[in-house]
Amino acid sequence: MNARRFCGSILVLCSLVAVGCDHTGKPVEGAEALRPDKVTDFNKLYSQNCSGCHGADGTHGAAMPLGNPEYEAISDEGVIADAIGNGVQGTLMPAFSQGSGGMLTDDQINALVMGIREKWYKPDTLKGLDVPPYQTNKQGDATHGQQVFATHCASCHTTGTQQKGAKLSSVTDGSYLALIGDQSLRAIIIAGRPDLGHPDWRGPSGNTPMSDQDVTDLVAWMASQRQKTPGQPYPSQP
Ligand code: HEC
Ligand code: HEC
Repeated sequence: MNARRFCGSILVLCSLVAVGCDHTGKPVEGAEALRPDKVTDFNKLYSQNCSGCHGADGTHGAAMPLGNPEYEAISDEGVIADAIGNGVQGTLMPAFSQGSGGMLTDDQINALVMGIREKWYKPDTLKGLDVPPYQTNKQGDATHGQQVFATHCASCHTTGTQQKGAKLSSVTDGSYLALIGDQSLRAIIIAGRPDLGHPDWRGPSGNTPMSDQDVTDLVAWMASQRQKTPGQPYPSQP
């Protein structure tokens, strides 16, 4: 390489390095990358931290679809902030607050809560309806809960290890119950999973809606189906 070509390449290199700086070499506003703990844009925070489990647009995730307006109507900012900050113990929902060992600042958690509510909460959803509350102070009766399952769920879902046949997946299978907490079961039973075609507490049209007590008993029965060693014993080999 001759001297002129060498100087030329150095010049190109310098101008490349200089992108993002003004002629004095100071960074131009907006050219520097934001520190990860300074990102407060909802879409960025949600896609980087939540969409893998809760679905890109709040639906079709493995975990609770936060984009279901009925879920938003029965929960509230406090419930959502608590779940994000502290996680849900015993489940796959991680704790995101720095105080709990996570990576998000209080501002970022606040931006997530506000973003979720702004995007997916529709104040008129469920207005005037008699909806079982998100949380209950009632005691569950598992025996009655089994009857509730027979009345409201068995037309679509199998139970235990029953063969699938024409019906849907078993929601009392040990492996499924090991992945979901009672509060999430309750929220799914009340708010439904419109993204999967699972009805809300009112059930398919023509059904009598479930009461708070029905839902509480049903969750108590489903919880009683949990096993100590989910997934065991393994199916015997032929
Ligand atoms: C590794 C998967 C995973 C990630 C990542 C994740 N979640 Fe969750 N989340 C879950 C699971 C699983 C549950 C349900 C826990 C249960 O069974 O009670 C849950 C529950 C929740 C709940 C409470 C739902 C209820 O029962 O009322 C909220 C709110 C929530 N997540 C928000 C978020 C937000 C916001 C983010 C991103 C900052 C996030 N989650 C990231 C898996 C995840
Ligand atoms: C009209 C049919 C129908 C009825 C009735 C019904 N479900 Fe579902 N449910 C579905 C469909 C469809 C899915 C999604 C596909 C699947 O999981 O097999 C589903 C999924 C679920 C899920 C899993 C959601 C997830 O996180 O993947 C749970 C839990 C559930 N139902 C519980 C119940 C309970 C409890 C009842 C009774 C109160 C009930 N379902 C009644 C159709 C129904």
